[in-house]
Amino acid sequence: MTTVAVVGAGAVGGVVAARLAAAGHVRVTACVRSPLGGIRVDRPDGTAESLPVDEASDPGQASTADWVVLATKAHQTAGAARWLERLCGPGTRVAVLQNGVEHVERVSPLVGEARILPAVVEISAEPLGRGHIRLFGPPRIVVPESEDGNAFAALCKDTGIIVEQTDDFLTAAWTKLCLNVANGAITAVTTRRMPVFTNPRVARLGRALVEEARLVGSSLGARLPDDLADQVIERLLAMPAESGSSMLWDRLAGRPLEFDARNGAVVRAGARVGVPTPHNDTVTALLEAISEVGERAS
Ligand SMILES: NC(=O)c1ccc[n+]([C@@H]2O[C@H](COP(=O)([O-])OP(=O)(O)OC[C@H]3O[C@@H](n4cnc5c(N)ncnc54)[C@H](OP(=O)(O)O)[C@@H]3O)[C@@H](O)[C@H]2O)c1
Repeated sequence: MTTVAVVGAGAVGGVVAARLAAAGHVRVTACVRSPLGGIRVDRPDGTAESLPVDEASDPGQASTADWVVLATKAHQTAGAARWLERLCGPGTRVAVLQNGVEHVERVSPLVGEARILPAVVEISAEPLGRGHIRLFGPPRIVVPESEDGNAFAALCKDTGIIVEQTDDFLTAAWTKLCLNVANGAITAVTTRRMPVFTNPRVARLGRALVEEARLVGSSLGARLPDDLADQVIERLLAMPAESGSSMLWDRLAGRPLEFDARNGAVVRAGARVGVPTPHNDTVTALLEAISEVGERAS
């Protein structure tokens, strides 16, 4: 039976582990720092599913898996190095379910000869407690059109996770980053959910963050529409009032924030291609300062 190790069984990883376990055609192990005691997912329609999932807590005891689903926050990747070292062999595929555009650069130093499949995660989920997740919509994951992408789609067959493949992953990743630079940053700085964007000044700041990211992504070859900033703000305003962002959940819980893989990545790439990114630079500084408090506490 195909073996799948989920490293980072939080909101996203927990949903994926639960859906894979429910489908029953693979052996799933959640690689955790402390026990989950099963996974409960509260679905958007008000129903819930609770599933037992095998757990492992000692990387030293782990052996090579066919698939590793890496769904820690981007800044927690290096901290999961021991799991990755033990779980990855030459035949392992590592699906990187993380936000940002630097999946391969971040993960490749940690996985030896394993193959990396970057993913754009379209799973809106809030961690409510250990192993308890609130899902806001249907889980969707976008991966490159490739042999590994096909294999991931086959892995997720009959799980309820929609896997889409694209021949332009660069555009898919930058499109998602353009959303994240506004929603993650602004909800986390203000500690407010999506209705924060009804404030016209906040919406203007959101547009400026997206526009900088759009210009940087476009310089790198991503095909991003001219009105993307307006589209993003409209999309955020149309979201349910209770929805937020994973960076907001971390801020509310006093944890370090995933700002560097998002606004920080825009600033880094902007410097490389010569596109100014003053708004993203400013919110990166604010988020870094907020995140330092979480780092001291954790
Ligand atoms: N949540 C969303 O709605 C959403 C939507 C789209 C994309 N994303 C992206 O998906 C990725 C995952 O986000 P998330 O919201 O699922 O994060 P999360 O709920 O914070 O989950 C991260 C998990 O990683 C675990 N972890 C961290 N370091 C670890 C280590 N060294 N060994 C084992 N486990 C470790 C954490 O365990 P502990 O419990 O022990 O801390 C936690 O369970 C991020 O890149 C995020 O931006 C999230």
